[in-house]
Amino acid sequence: MIPDLAIINANELVTLDSKYGVPRKGKQMTELAIINDGAIAINGEKITFVGTTKEIKNKYSLEKIGKIIDASKKLVTPGFVDPHTHIIFDGTRENELSMKLSGKSYLEILESGGGILKTVRETRKASISKLVDNGKRILDTMMNYGTTTVETKSGYGLSIENEMKSLKAIKILNEEHPLEIVPTFLGAHAVPPEYKDRIDDYVELIVSKMIPLIAKEKLAEFCDVFCEEGIFSIEQTRKILNIAKNYGLKPQIHIDEIVDTNGALLSAEINAIQTGHLLKSNMEGLKAMARAGVIATLLPATPFCLMLRDYAPAREMIEMGIPIALATDLNPNCWTESMQIIIALACFNMKLSPAEALTASTINGACALQREDKIGSLEVGKKADIAIFDIPTHEFLPYHFGVNLISQVIKNGKIIVNNQKLINDF
Ligand code: NIG
Ligand code: FE
Repeated sequence: MIPDLAIINANELVTLDSKYGVPRKGKQMTELAIINDGAIAINGEKITFVGTTKEIKNKYSLEKIGKIIDASKKLVTPGFVDPHTHIIFDGTRENELSMKLSGKSYLEILESGGGILKTVRETRKASISKLVDNGKRILDTMMNYGTTTVETKSGYGLSIENEMKSLKAIKILNEEHPLEIVPTFLGAHAVPPEYKDRIDDYVELIVSKMIPLIAKEKLAEFCDVFCEEGIFSIEQTRKILNIAKNYGLKPQIHIDEIVDTNGALLSAEINAIQTGHLLKSNMEGLKAMARAGVIATLLPATPFCLMLRDYAPAREMIEMGIPIALATDLNPNCWTESMQIIIALACFNMKLSPAEALTASTINGACALQREDKIGSLEVGKKADIAIFDIPTHEFLPYHFGVNLISQVIKNGKIIVNNQKLINDF
């Protein structure tokens, strides 16, 4: 069959071929399976050929192919998978920077009614169409920076009505926007003011009303909890996620971001698919995660925005065999759509190599969302989700930082970004 679209002459074609391990662990994380002078053919939504430009020329007569992208001097990679974000919110929190500069901590800002609780007040007031508009703008920027699949969460509603509104906004975005969105229910993101000092009653509302309703309406694939001192305890997190599992929602957790509450151990015990943050996790917990195969989704923009000195111990984790993914954690406290910036932060602050950071942003991110059979690598039969960068090698991704290096983005076989302009007829 003649391809609809082909990419040829790629200086570096990063395939991340599955034969080197899925998810990538330890030394496998450096194995990008690069083809120099690479080429890809696409039919419909899928990749039908991966090889060298010479091979593609032997296989097809190029003039018959619908469209050809010349990727000379360029880097071609799988589209980024961003497996941990919070894009459904209204209002902004730029004012909190001055509080942080004057020494206030994240939890102090939250306790005084700011932080997540400020965003909850504004998100509750917003209409569903406002939330969809806000989300669309964020998704547009994400795709312009090379992301093709994104997980996102509710969690600024904190009542049945407002959590449902947030998850319905995600559903609309998934139907209307070219990016694929994986929906997560995060009713346990903070204790809503009306339940202050009655946390167990709110947990009861989550497990007895919210989870059954969300599962029945198929509005979420994952369930998440912000497990942290002063937010939800280990016991409350265990209860919520075990009940979520009974309703078919897959478990993931925000753990050990500010204090070590033994979240890593819990994530292994309940077989979480992925856990986020892990800044303070203890060794025993990390070893248990390695044994259980839980993916550590590291979010280096968060300590950056919180002005913390400590980042997650990524090198130790890789040595222990924990598969690492990277994500933006986009939220009103930490607002970036760019996985390119995340790669730079991961290399400069967590000492990942450019290859490890790229692996963590593609195939391992796909594993964190249990979509490794469809996305995250460039292989025949997988979806044609591809990022083309105006740089010659993957080492330039963190090296030339703070600007958008994208040339084209392809999602499901369609060009959705060309020269950093969104193509609107998808
Ligand atoms: O992952 N830490 C909890 N939740 C988000 C932040 C949410 C917010 O501050 O609005 C996170 O960092
Ligand atoms: Fe988060």
